[in-house]
Amino acid sequence: MTLRSVIIGTGSFLPAKRVSNAELAERVDTTDEWIVERTGIRFRHIAGDDETTSTLATEAARAALESAGVEATSIDLIVLATATPDQTFPASATRVQTALGINDCVAFDVAAVCSGFLYALQVADSMIRAGAHRRALVIGAETFSRILDWEDRATCVLFGDGAGAVVLQAQESAEQGGRGILATRLHADGRHNDLLYVDGGPSTTGTVGKLRMKGREVFRHAVVNLAAVMSETLEVAGLSSADVDWVVPHQANARILDATARKLGLAPGKVVVTVDQHANTSAASVPLALDTAVRDGRIKQGDLIVLEAMGGGFTWGAAVVRF
Ligand code: COA
Repeated sequence: MTLRSVIIGTGSFLPAKRVSNAELAERVDTTDEWIVERTGIRFRHIAGDDETTSTLATEAARAALESAGVEATSIDLIVLATATPDQTFPASATRVQTALGINDCVAFDVAAVCSGFLYALQVADSMIRAGAHRRALVIGAETFSRILDWEDRATCVLFGDGAGAVVLQAQESAEQGGRGILATRLHADGRHNDLLYVDGGPSTTGTVGKLRMKGREVFRHAVVNLAAVMSETLEVAGLSSADVDWVVPHQANARILDATARKLGLAPGKVVVTVDQHANTSAASVPLALDTAVRDGRIKQGDLIVLEAMGGGFTWGAAVVRF
């Protein structure tokens, strides 16, 4: 028997405010054509004044719990991936915990920017397989609109706010091909800090800071790293790209999605794309895309899915999951 973490529910949440490229073009010197051609993005959702990362996360978690058909109080672990926490401390995961009415469980945040959900998933999976926890909420949630420089057209058009969540459950599996997280792989290379970062922080400037990016160089690294980590993770699982039913990638840029799929020889029809509707929601993007494809009926129980992401640091990773 093998102990595995099985995804038993998914959920997501988007702020009500939806902003088109044309609306952005009224604020900065850009056009709908430029944004669509270079990125594939058409809309993004932006958090209202009364919304924070933890409120978005809580709604996504509620939806995931409902789809799993389990009570919040049965959760014994919350791992929340975010680069835009409500406060420097305590962890936003503890705010989600309280909002869900859970009085005692392990709850903490993971910071790996756009790869955050993959990092959080591996952490939760390891804790479950070690036998320490039985049922976990793994959440990616962000309010990147709060750290964007709204004067910088090269970055402010690319990001949006949102949250996605999954419920993981410990399950004994006798079969080799059974459901659950089959393999995960993570990487980081801190030498590239200056290509994608926030120019503030509690121990440097004492301010929150704004996002800065050298987009062209990030693009180049992303395609190479993502294709490599997907191949590596499939190999660890003893599988190949021919076995994959769906890739659920980090939604940064439609051209990165196309180039990565081509490198792996995957048909574009097997790639879940939501970047046109949500833009880049950082740690939220993978669970948000997963929930979208589960709810619209594309991803079904038993499908082999590959999750992948790359973000600031650089950090990157992938997970192979029998859904
Ligand atoms: N509207 C119109 N023009 C814009 C623009 C915008 N929103 N943003 C940048 N430009 C201009 C630039 O000023 C530049 O003009 P110049 O040639 O006169 O100097 C021109 O477009 C080309 O800029 P460049 O940055 O070289 O464009 P690009 O083809 O690399 O596309 C990105 C820019 C950001 C879309 C692309 O590099 C990208 O997607 N990178 C990856 C970013 C990413 O995914 N990051 C997150 C990873 S987690």
